[in-house]
Amino acid sequence: MNVLVTGGVGFIGTNLIKRLLEDGHKVVSLDNYQTGKEENEQEGCEYHRVDIRDGIDFDFFMPDPDIIYHLAALPRIQPSFEYPELTFETNVLGTMNIMSWAKEKGCGVVYAGSSSKHGGIFKNPYTFTKHQGEEIVELYNKVYDVPTAICRFYNVYGPYQLTEGEYCTVVGIFQRQYKNGEELTITGDGEQRRDFTHVYDIVDGFVKCGEQLDKVSGEVFELGRGENFSINVIAQSFDVGYTYIPKRPGEVQETLCTDMKARKLLGWKPTIDILDYIEGVRVDKEISNN
Ligand SMILES: NC(=O)c1ccc[n+]([C@@H]2O[C@H](COP(=O)([O-])OP(=O)(O)OC[C@H]3O[C@@H](n4cnc5c(N)ncnc54)[C@H](O)[C@@H]3O)[C@@H](O)[C@H]2O)c1
Repeated sequence: MNVLVTGGVGFIGTNLIKRLLEDGHKVVSLDNYQTGKEENEQEGCEYHRVDIRDGIDFDFFMPDPDIIYHLAALPRIQPSFEYPELTFETNVLGTMNIMSWAKEKGCGVVYAGSSSKHGGIFKNPYTFTKHQGEEIVELYNKVYDVPTAICRFYNVYGPYQLTEGEYCTVVGIFQRQYKNGEELTITGDGEQRRDFTHVYDIVDGFVKCGEQLDKVSGEVFELGRGENFSINVIAQSFDVGYTYIPKRPGEVQETLCTDMKARKLLGWKPTIDILDYIEGVRVDKEISNN
């Protein structure tokens, strides 16, 4: 199949492209490298430096896509407070551009939604714009018959995650601090709970959704492992010192996927446990120290 991935040099996009190439697809990535990295480029995929906010002719990059996996976004809550306009332009107008091209091409779109919406869409600009993205996807499905599905991801971690800068996630921050021999920094009282889901499981659900788009068009899926842990437990499982820093605004107290639709309709089953993953990180550090 001809597969177009937006956000292909980002954390999840890189893992997705590796999987799509393994599955034998022709893959083209569109990314402006805002948070994505050149070193994430995979052999066998065609990469273009493109900004989805620009209403350009995407035909030039892939004239006959069979499916689009739309991941490009400004992803994270905290920076969205500082850049609400840019977040809106990327996550909402960018999504509109992709959907309008999909309509022209008659090809399906699988959209990377966010579980953060369950905490309320007005908590921060990021959550609001990801919700607006979902609404646009749904609009094109209902009004223009574009085959679409939405997968809401829960707290993704794993290879290629950012470990530096304002767009990195808690597991990325802890891994960097652990690797550097620093104390881990826990925000607030650390009792907030997250349903951490490994990126391999996320990619597997996303791809299963794309493969069965004919059957599941119009559906929304929750891709979460279905078990949550407090940040305190996650920090303690690294077995090093930690300290507390002020709570950050706009964050929910808990994420937890209780919806089993992806398991039932897609045959998806997440397999990787965050505590096993952290154990692996610790073993790797011990090996590299010896
Ligand atoms: N990581 C998570 O825990 C999580 C949870 C829920 C939803 N999501 C969603 O998954 C998707 C991927 O997130 P990620 O964690 O891989 O983040 P990421 O920042 O690693 O990937 C996003 C990619 O989009 C690209 N991008 C940003 N603006 C662009 C633009 N204007 N034009 C073209 N490309 C642009 C970035 O350069 C980057 O490569 C996002 O849509 C995000 O909202 C992620």
